[in-house]
Amino acid sequence: MKPAEFDRHAAGYDGGLDNPVKRLMGNSPDQFIAVKARWLLRHEPALRSGGLAMLDYGCGAGDLMRVLAGLGARAAFSGCDISQGMLEEVGKRWSEALGPAPTIVVQNGVRTAFADRQFDVITISAVLHHVPIEERAAVYRELGRVLKPGGRLYVFEHNPRNPLVRYVIARTPIDENAILLDAREVRHGLLDDSRYDLKTDYLMFMPPGLAFLRPVDRMLAWLPLGAQYVVAARKGA
Ligand SMILES: C[S@@+](CC[C@H](N)C(=O)[O-])C[C@H]1O[C@@H](n2cnc3c(N)ncnc32)[C@H](O)[C@@H]1O
Repeated sequence: MKPAEFDRHAAGYDGGLDNPVKRLMGNSPDQFIAVKARWLLRHEPALRSGGLAMLDYGCGAGDLMRVLAGLGARAAFSGCDISQGMLEEVGKRWSEALGPAPTIVVQNGVRTAFADRQFDVITISAVLHHVPIEERAAVYRELGRVLKPGGRLYVFEHNPRNPLVRYVIARTPIDENAILLDAREVRHGLLDDSRYDLKTDYLMFMPPGLAFLRPVDRMLAWLPLGAQYVVAARKGA
């Protein structure tokens, strides 16, 4: 298998925090991930119960699952990625106190080895902008294949409508080949493949490190200008 683009970023991967503007907003990569993890736990409280099977597609170093577990999630986690190097980081960053380590699977292109309708919850976070435009439909198809009827898919992405996001992405080495996508593109791509009920929230209006401003973020979730968005998709039964 030829090396994936992220193999060369894997050792010491920090989610692009080498960018000085991003560093002004938060001083650790986990602060950025925790915004998404807290949003997920509010919308999927059953993740804490231990009964759900959750896949993080394009999980990289497994940071979203690790931060979720640190906040109390006890799902049966699985992660997959096209980068063997990134997946090797998952075990190194996981600690026993977080519960059983995720099941990790290297992808063959967009396809995974998971069974049809295997997962209750799927996340795909900061991945699609690294997937060539002509391959994105195949990713939506794969996500739809492994999601249970009634299951929930959450697509987290950088929001190109936010000018600061465009500025940062254009100056961050891990994003040199990134092609950002609007929430509308995600919604249309998903609906081309399956029947979903869709809802979009915007996240990260305020610097993630400033906990006292979190209520402001929650009040603004409707405004399409946050640094991130999440398209929440419930698959038809
Ligand atoms: C910016 S990192 C994000 C990693 C992780 N999702 C997170 O939020 O920390 C992007 C990841 O997407 C992966 N990736 C890129 N194209 C992919 C594809 N077609 N299928 C699965 N993963 C892919 C890369 O290998 C990399 O690990």
